[in-house]
Amino acid sequence: MRRPDVVVVGGGAIGLAVAWRATAAGLTVEVVDPAPGRGASWAAAGMLAPVTEVHYGEESLLGLNLASARRYPSFVAELEEAAGRPAGYRRCGTLAVAADNDDNRALGEVIDFQRRLGLEVERLTARQCRQLEPALAPSVRGGARVEGDHQVDPRTLLSALLGACGNTGVAFTTERVASVEVAGGRATGVRLASGTLVTSGSVVLAAGAWSPAIVPQGWSVPVRPVKGQILRLRHRGGRAILSGNLRGLVGGSQVYLVPRSDGRLVVGATAEEMGFDPAVTAGAVLELLTDACALVPDVAELELVETSAAFRPGTPDNAPLIGPSSLDGLSLATGHFRNGILLTPVTADAIAEHLVSGQLPDVAAPFTPLRFARSVA
Ligand code: GLY
Repeated sequence: MRRPDVVVVGGGAIGLAVAWRATAAGLTVEVVDPAPGRGASWAAAGMLAPVTEVHYGEESLLGLNLASARRYPSFVAELEEAAGRPAGYRRCGTLAVAADNDDNRALGEVIDFQRRLGLEVERLTARQCRQLEPALAPSVRGGARVEGDHQVDPRTLLSALLGACGNTGVAFTTERVASVEVAGGRATGVRLASGTLVTSGSVVLAAGAWSPAIVPQGWSVPVRPVKGQILRLRHRGGRAILSGNLRGLVGGSQVYLVPRSDGRLVVGATAEEMGFDPAVTAGAVLELLTDACALVPDVAELELVETSAAFRPGTPDNAPLIGPSSLDGLSLATGHFRNGILLTPVTADAIAEHLVSGQLPDVAAPFTPLRFARSVA
């Protein structure tokens, strides 16, 4: 029977980063996931945009998002060293634009909100927007530039995380976890779907939207799936039609375009309360492409390479669950909703520190699962 110090349930960006950081801190770690490196992380666009993605009412989450964005350069430098391959981080900035006059007024309100929060954002005229991004439609009304909002290619990041885990001795079990095991009032490991028991000193639940299905009977995790449909396109000549991330307001709807320098482009995303409905719908593809083409007409010339649906792990307050639960031996690293890729470094560091020292760092303390103590495992 295996007995690692830690079993991490879930091999998305968060689970892999937790495993790598915990191993680097001297623990033995096993990741259990039927398909490590896939899931919601594989579908994500990888915008690292705490400022342009700020939402009204999420001011405390903003602090965590900014802290993780600041951590990204050193995190990827260490990751690339450990993995021996690139991690896909790109400093490119983000331009937010408005398609019509109402959108431009709404964008103005967002900019006022961002400035009240002390964030750096530069208001731009339509002409200045087109100087930055010549592919923008002449109809775009105005915009705002945020120098500090960048991107990472999540698929390159996942490949680097898998490489770093492999190089540092993380063990992998490519099976589904049926449940966290409990004995004597504490988590003692996981039961695999095949019936095999993996016993461990601690369990970290990083299974995204699937986390609630894995906690033992009588416990719960306040996470629900929020479906996102997302498109992948590419320029057949390998030319990037945008130089940086683009967020748009189009007739009141949000759309984002995340360009890679080799001509690939990610367009996202819907946010739907549809449970685990995996369908990619014609209506969502139509809406995303219509909005993307309204901002950047050349999108219509790109090859549509992939459509996908994935599930963000949403929580009641839209903020993640990071740290120990009320079940001894079980920590949560889930509920990251729209910010899983952005919050990967700060979550991994916080969970690794907690596993080693028993202390959750101050930056993560407000996001303890114990804030939902009456319902959380
Ligand atoms: N952060 C982008 C999304 O959730 O679609």
